[in-house]
Amino acid sequence: MPNSLLPITAHQVSIIRKGRRLLNSLDLTITNPGITMIMGPNGAGKSLLLRCLHGLISSDEGEIHFGQKPMEAKIRYRQSMVFQSPTLLRRSVYANLAFVLKDRRMFDPAKIDHALNMVGLTHLATQSARLLSGGEKQRLVLARALLTDPDMLFLDEATSNLDPASTKIIEDILRKVSQASTKIIAITHDLGQAKRLADTIVFMHQGRVCEQTPSDAFFDQPISKEARAFLKGDLLL
Ligand SMILES: Nc1ncnc2c1ncn2[C@@H]1O[C@H](COP(=O)(O)OP(=O)(O)O)[C@@H](O)[C@H]1O
Ligand SMILES: [Mg+2]
Repeated sequence: MPNSLLPITAHQVSIIRKGRRLLNSLDLTITNPGITMIMGPNGAGKSLLLRCLHGLISSDEGEIHFGQKPMEAKIRYRQSMVFQSPTLLRRSVYANLAFVLKDRRMFDPAKIDHALNMVGLTHLATQSARLLSGGEKQRLVLARALLTDPDMLFLDEATSNLDPASTKIIEDILRKVSQASTKIIAITHDLGQAKRLADTIVFMHQGRVCEQTPSDAFFDQPISKEARAFLKGDLLL
């Protein structure tokens, strides 16, 4: 089934703060399903772009469309986002998941069991979420993000600083849900992760997209001089 939120088109999108163009007339079109990874140096505007795409901030200029439609509540409802630092309720693991479904009037214990199993937290269902390790917390956040079967999942450095076992569990899930038609757009600093997961790389610098290239070609021969410098490990100013 085609993904109703594709294509994504961002046309001349700017975010301006104190006279600085943090996103600077950014153009981006994403048509392909699978996993798109956004890379680029610190301060490039990656997180701002993702927040814009999820409707958490609105752009000062330009337009964003999902499947030809402008951003609206119904579209945001079909998206989920996972941040670098997990935010959880001070309740049990199970209750953190139940809350989301009750909030949307779609409570179903089978869905929760499935989600817990998927992220390997079934044995910790009754434990307080506060007591989980960092990796377990992030797996719980991912399970929560996927409970509503989103058409689009955004991740902002979601596996930075995680233990390898949790990172692997999360990467395996991302691969699986992307094959089952959830579009994934993820920011990562981890070149290895991008090579393992990405179908396409979007490379950003100074509030713009420098290039958008299939992953294999990007790591083999990036087009932009900015991406070439970044992959060589040069400082990009
Ligand atoms: N609310 C804000 N007000 C002013 N400047 C901001 C705000 N949010 C982000 N910035 C600036 O915008 C630039 C891009 O930020 P960000 O999208 O977080 O970069 P990245 O995620 O690529 O590291 C940075 O220079 C950052 O300091
Ligand atoms: Mg960021």
